Amino acid sequence: MPKWLDDAVFYEIYPQSFLDTNGDGIGDFQGIIEKLDYIKDLGCNALWINPCFDSPFKDAGYDVRDYKKTAERYGTNDDLKRLFAEAHRKQIHVLLDLVPGHTSEEHEWFIKSKNPEPNEYWNRYIWTNSWFSWDMEGLKFIAGETERNGSYIVNFFKCQPALNYGFLQPRTPWQLPVTHPDSIATREALKDIIRFWLDRGCDGFRVDMADSLVKFDDEKKTGTSAVWSNIREMLDKEYPEAAIVSEWSNPPLALKAGFHMDFLLDHEGKGYHTLMRDYKVGAAGTPVDDKSFFKKDAKGDICLFLENYLPWYESTKGDGYISLITGNHDTARLGATLSPDELAIAYATLWTLPGVPFLYYGDEIAMRYLFLPTKEGGFTRTGSRTPMQWTNGKNKGFSNAAPEKLYLPVDPAPGAPTVETQEKDSSSLLNTVKAILKLRHGEPDLQAQPNLEILYAEKGKVPFIYRRGSFVIAVNPSTDAVSAPVKGAGTPVFTIGTGTLDNGECRLNAQSFGIWKV
Ligand code: NOJ
Repeated sequence: MPKWLDDAVFYEIYPQSFLDTNGDGIGDFQGIIEKLDYIKDLGCNALWINPCFDSPFKDAGYDVRDYKKTAERYGTNDDLKRLFAEAHRKQIHVLLDLVPGHTSEEHEWFIKSKNPEPNEYWNRYIWTNSWFSWDMEGLKFIAGETERNGSYIVNFFKCQPALNYGFLQPRTPWQLPVTHPDSIATREALKDIIRFWLDRGCDGFRVDMADSLVKFDDEKKTGTSAVWSNIREMLDKEYPEAAIVSEWSNPPLALKAGFHMDFLLDHEGKGYHTLMRDYKVGAAGTPVDDKSFFKKDAKGDICLFLENYLPWYESTKGDGYISLITGNHDTARLGATLSPDELAIAYATLWTLPGVPFLYYGDEIAMRYLFLPTKEGGFTRTGSRTPMQWTNGKNKGFSNAAPEKLYLPVDPAPGAPTVETQEKDSSSLLNTVKAILKLRHGEPDLQAQPNLEILYAEKGKVPFIYRRGSFVIAVNPSTDAVSAPVKGAGTPVFTIGTGTLDNGECRLNAQSFGIWKV
């Protein structure tokens, strides 16, 4: 396990929208380099950059055309190497985004694979043995598109043919077993990409749809897990400091398979989802019937989160870390439904639970979700991918380009949050974020290690109280003053709102959060 994860706090950057330094209306590597000090000052010491490789961008870069070449719009491979070096000088680690399950239909491998004449890449993707065969439960086929006599499987959009890691239980001859040399060749090609970027200075990868590799892999994901265990073995041997985090959202499976971290994702009705996004989307796309735990008047229930989280936490102790996110490029911005005050309590909670947290760019100032037409396959996700709001000047400091040339419009609201405004206000969300993360970096008890003990969590009730080593932490997102029994007394080290811990009782006023040393 790379030691640096003990105290890592990640910042996710959607490179299109972070900072444009050459005036073409889209973010670039140089923009990230220029903001490394900002990121460090915020309290983040690691980055995850969304795919920045050559791509036709039909899915914002998750359709990779060349894994070993950066997209021109962000800069060259050398610029990215410079980014790694600059980040390392500031003790910031950098993860790239690895898309192992599919490529763009424009990838050289696929162009060769769709050729009617058999060749080295014929089995790099999953093809049926006849143009007329395109139906099988759980798989998505594209038929009639190529001259090869067969249909192929996609993982996500039509433009993303699935790479072939084989089938755990092949049902027909065109389904190769996982032990077939061509299934193994795909895995080895993936290792080659991993080595390529690690050799150039990256520190690991966020892994897209990590559970999608082997097909008919059923609930236990035995086949896919074996691929990752094999890759982890290689990493442990050749790059022991490299880290991988999975988009899987099943920590027991993902961490046993070899990932160092696994994200909890916003899956409706399940644990993490109930914390901040437990609402329905109404007719105009606006959220209704919000029951989220951190919504002050929603009377949400922390047990809905804990029922899912705790068994996963308990069963993965020592295997790796659960990663709680503020959001990501696929989820609705929290600023859509939660006020900065509600967000401060939410972030303070997420970042004082065990594991390795991830902060999505712009969430530190509560950027809003914007209702926009789709861009690069974003659809409803587009509104969470708008340019970072740095200043109160032109294009909110994102770019010098004419506003109509921007990748996406900046938030036009007169009072739209910006870094410039919030830096000047000591009580802003931005400054609260800095204070929480500073505290976390100074106290190993509050970092990734699995030292969680739940002290008070009752169905439908607040506060929520837990212990991390020598700290007691209490959370009250509601508009009521509340209390609960907690043994002993403590010295306050951090508070949002007001509260006390003494005489065997913890009291928190409305919308308050506290950390006490005990
Ligand atoms: C998950 C990524 O987060 C998402 O943005 C992408 O569209 C799909 N995987 C397909 O790669």
